[in-house]
Amino acid sequence: MDVKIVAIVVIALIIGILIGYAISVPKIQQLETELEELKEAAGMVPELKQQIDELKSENEKLKSELAKYTKSYVDEIKKRGKLIVGTSADWPPFEYPEDGGYAGIDIRIAQKIAEKLGVDLEIKDMKFAALIEALRTGMVDMVIADMTPTAEREKVVDFSVPYYFSKGHAVLILKESTISSVEDLYGKKIGVQLGTTQEEWAKENLKDKAEIISYNKVYPDMVMVLMRGDVDAIIVGDIVGNILVNKHPELKIGLYVGGSSIGGAVAVAEGAEDLKYVINSVIQELIETGEMEKIFEEEITKWMEKE
Ligand code: ARG
Repeated sequence: MDVKIVAIVVIALIIGILIGYAISVPKIQQLETELEELKEAAGMVPELKQQIDELKSENEKLKSELAKYTKSYVDEIKKRGKLIVGTSADWPPFEYPEDGGYAGIDIRIAQKIAEKLGVDLEIKDMKFAALIEALRTGMVDMVIADMTPTAEREKVVDFSVPYYFSKGHAVLILKESTISSVEDLYGKKIGVQLGTTQEEWAKENLKDKAEIISYNKVYPDMVMVLMRGDVDAIIVGDIVGNILVNKHPELKIGLYVGGSSIGGAVAVAEGAEDLKYVINSVIQELIETGEMEKIFEEEITKWMEKE
């Protein structure tokens, strides 16, 4: 064989190898960096897993939150066949015991709401301070207790539209007492109902100036301690105050405090939109037809004429 040919073949082979090499080196480098990237990505897997888990639990939370708002309170009440209402039956003419049951303005409004829902009414009487918690734990469907919507309460429950307005809190005293101003209350013993806006007013305006004593039930308990002279004054709602001084001639209203505000509204569990809707429609209807005024008039007259 010709040496020349051998040389050409050898050179061609060498060139071929060099070209092959020149092509595959960057290829290998690329593969190496890809491998590096893959390794890195693999390192991120637990992190990603955690993120996915977090998103999942976030999703669950949102779902249960949503369920709260889409849960039908009305369906539940209808299925049960009765509306369970919490109140503090110590507050004439709004709610008070009568004939082994309960009566008053609020009870009549509750009755109308139960009628609208087509169910029976069950009243659960408890201390006023326990009502919000009873609502939150689902022990009652709604609370009607001449409860004033306050910012503090709005944080944990929802309120219907108001069904009346109040002129303020009435400070009840004995006939012979000369208390007629807030300053006159300084240094005195003042009775209020636990958890009420009257207690809140006293704590804000008489703190360190008077002795504030809180009670669970207004009527008859707080009226009795006032008549016994255990306290110098008790603070109640304006309408209630008028009823009580009429019933007990040894009492009078010394002054009004706190100014006018929304009187009462019905409280429901936070997010009980469908129930609130029914309650609002009943209240609006009662107001528009003049029935609400009639209920107030009748109940007030009934107490004014009571022996
Ligand atoms: N309106 C006041 C409040 O919301 C007093 C209500 C008291 N009601 C009763 N049933 N004792 O705090």
